[in-house]
Formats: sequence, structure tokens, C-alpha cells
Amino acid sequence: MEKSDIDQLRQADVDHQIHPQYHVRDHENAVVYQRGEGALLWDIEGKEYIDGLSSLWNVAVGHGRKELAEVAQKQMEELAFSNSYAGYANVPSIQLAERLIELVYPSMQAVFFCNSGSEAVEGALKIARFYWHLQGKPEKTTIIARKDAYHGGTYGATTVTGIPSFHNGFGPLLGGVVHAETCYPYRCGHCSRAEDCTSACADDIEAVIGREGADTVAAVIAEPVHGAGGVIPPTPSYWPRLREICDKNDVLLIADEVITGFGRTGKWFALEHWGVQPDIMAVAKAISSAYVPLAGFIVSGRIHGAMLDAPRTEKFMHGYTNAGHPTACAVGLRNLQIIEEEGLVERAAAMGKRLLQGLEQSLEHPNVGDVRGLGLMAAVELTSDKASRAPFDAADAVGPRVLKAMRERGVITRVKGDSILLAPPLVTTPEQIDRIIEVVGESIQAVLPG
Ligand SMILES: Cc1ncc(COP(=O)(O)O)c(C=O)c1O
Repeated sequence: MEKSDIDQLRQADVDHQIHPQYHVRDHENAVVYQRGEGALLWDIEGKEYIDGLSSLWNVAVGHGRKELAEVAQKQMEELAFSNSYAGYANVPSIQLAERLIELVYPSMQAVFFCNSGSEAVEGALKIARFYWHLQGKPEKTTIIARKDAYHGGTYGATTVTGIPSFHNGFGPLLGGVVHAETCYPYRCGHCSRAEDCTSACADDIEAVIGREGADTVAAVIAEPVHGAGGVIPPTPSYWPRLREICDKNDVLLIADEVITGFGRTGKWFALEHWGVQPDIMAVAKAISSAYVPLAGFIVSGRIHGAMLDAPRTEKFMHGYTNAGHPTACAVGLRNLQIIEEEGLVERAAAMGKRLLQGLEQSLEHPNVGDVRGLGLMAAVELTSDKASRAPFDAADAVGPRVLKAMRERGVITRVKGDSILLAPPLVTTPEQIDRIIEVVGESIQAVLPG
């Protein structure tokens, strides 16, 4: 493309497109992508990048998969769309629902398809309240969410998100949502630095349930590993404790596996690491590797049973035109087949180990405070002072400057504050993993020469 054409395209973008999480100043000189292959992306100027975050944690099987294009074309030619509202169905959505139920936790029974992680979360919140309504306990409506959580951009999902900047200017938010502490071992005010950590941070959730009254609480929603909030894996005892708290108080547990699902953590689903099963889960992103928009929420047999037993007047009046979209579901089905056939869950575990060990071994910089991860998701948290773990002054924009240095060196990713987040595609090669590690080190050194 000629330089003048590129300039014109960029200007049209600024003039006519509003981007997610947007301020035009952050959008100056945007990278305009043109092509992808495996873990690599190229922009319109021909510059090559390693996709260090699988774009938005979602392109699990990598870019440029002809199999997925072919299955979409075939399905579009046969039946591009059909109505999935009650009384109608299509073959790919039935097959995908069946396959998902084989893959997810044994407690899970039925799936509702939608288009995005936000919609999956939105539906998960609604089905939690609807379940208690069906149980004759309509006063159980409060949702407990956690600080540092990211759950999406629709109103319910924004409300349960626990990062204050996402609430700015949008109030009043959804009623009946209360935030509790999360499990953040590096910044733990409880016991996670001790040998005998009991995940006392989870007790804050129980305290909130107690304060609100368990008979008014519908559900707790949490990401198995915080994603956008900073890639924060919990302590090993955290999720079992959370399950115990929910059971004790008769509260539903919603796992937001929008990022962690489909192999990202080295297991098909992340709670397998801790032997925990949720009541409701939200899935998206890697379900279709983002070749088409696809997501869903999945409910346990207990919840599905309540829906089946409900009187005819008690319909679940929730829906989207594109629910169970045949083309999206056909692509999702083929994408899951690729993950399975190519052993990408096991590969994520192996590549994740290489990434985490490589980062731990190579980053001896005095400002590297924490290196953490699970499977093929990792974070490097920078600190202005290793002893006190104090963050940098936000005005110094250390994280964004490291991000820019990484981009210049050919690795694209995101930061949360001063934490560099990494989650490359599950097909990333060992050499590309090593290059990411090198670029992280070089970029930190360039911004903080010590
Ligand atoms: C854990 C989690 N939940 C929900 C969402 C929202 O998904 P979407 O952006 O597809 O609406 C995201 C997006 O990153 C997420 O990370």
C-alpha cells in the first residue's frame, strides 16, 4: 500500500470509528493489521509482530487457519443463519452444545449460545437470579464480584467488573452488586506470603455474604485466573475454599472462563487445576479462536433441571437474534477439533512452562517485582522498589512505555498498570516464546536502564 493511502486510511479511522476503551490520543499512529499466520501478524506497512496476547486472549489456534475459513464457507452456503428461538434449532449448534458438555466440568448440563464474553456474563447473571426465582426465593438477587475482575462491557458485566476505571462516567450501574477482596498473592494483605496460606482472602467473600445475608445472595462471580486485571493466578487453596463458602451459604458459583477456557491454562478449563466445579460458567474467545464471534454460558444439571421442571408460565425470557448461529457454531466445532487433534491443551502447558521459566530466569532487573503465570498466560509486574513492592507513579507511565518498546521490537501485547501481560497463541513455537522473553527483558531495560 502507498504511504498516501495508508495516511488516508488512518485519518478515516480517526474521523469515523470509535474504538473500544478509546481516547483519540491513545489511538494516534494505530497499528493497522493486514495479515496473520500462526502466532505472527503483519501490519499494512509490512512490519511483523509476534501476537503476544493471541490478539485479545482469543486466537488460540493461531491466525490464517484455512480449515476454519472452509468450514464457514461450507456452512454459509448450506445454511448461513437460522432462528434458534424456542421451537427451532440447527445441526451445528446442537452438535457444539453436545461437544461442549462432553468437554466441560461433569456438573455442567446445558449451554446458551451468544456472541461475546460480555453477553455470556450477562446471561450468567440473569440465569443465577432466574434460578432462585424458580426456587421460590426471589429475594436471592445480590451478586458478589471481586476487585481487579474484568467481566466485559455490557451494563451487568461492567457492574461486576472490579476495576474502577471501567465504571467512570457510566453510573448508575446495575443494582445489587457488591465487590469483595480478591486473591492477589503478590499484593496480599492476608496470608499468601506464608507457608501455611489458607486463602484467608476468600473469607472476605464469606464476610460479604454474611453482611448482606445469605438469603439475599444469588451468586459469586469470579475468573479462575484474573486476566485483564493482571494475570493473577490464585493460591492453590483459594478455589476449593470459594466452593466451600458458596455451598455452605447456598450461593451459586459462576466461573468466568472467557479467557481461561479451551486450553489456555494447560487444562481444558481452569478449575480442573483445583478439582472445583462451578454452577454456571461463561465461555467465549477461544471457543471459536475468534474466527467468528461466539460465546455462551453453561449451567449445571441442577439449574437446567429447575428450568425443565418450571411451569409453562416461567419462560427464560432472554435471547439474542444470533443465539446458536449455525455458521459460528460450525466454526466453533471445527476449532475445538483442531485444539484436540493438535494437542494444543498439552502444548499450552509445555509452552507456558517454557515462557514462565524463561521469564523467571532471565529477568534479574531490580524493578521486576513478580513473575507469575499458569499455562500459557503470564505476567511480569514491575515495581519502583522491590522491598516495599511499591508501584510506580502512574504519571511515569512505565507500563505503557514498556509496551511501546516491545511493539517497536516486534511483540504486541497489553499491560495492566505496570504489569506486562502475555498469552500468545497455543501454537506459538519455542523460538517465538524465546523471542518474547528476550523482548520483555530488552524493553524493560530500555525503559528502566537502572
Ligand atoms: C474474563 C472476561 N470476561 C468477559 C469478557 C468480555 O468478553 P467480550 O469482550 O467478548 O465481550 C472478557 C474480555 O476480555 C474477559 O476477559
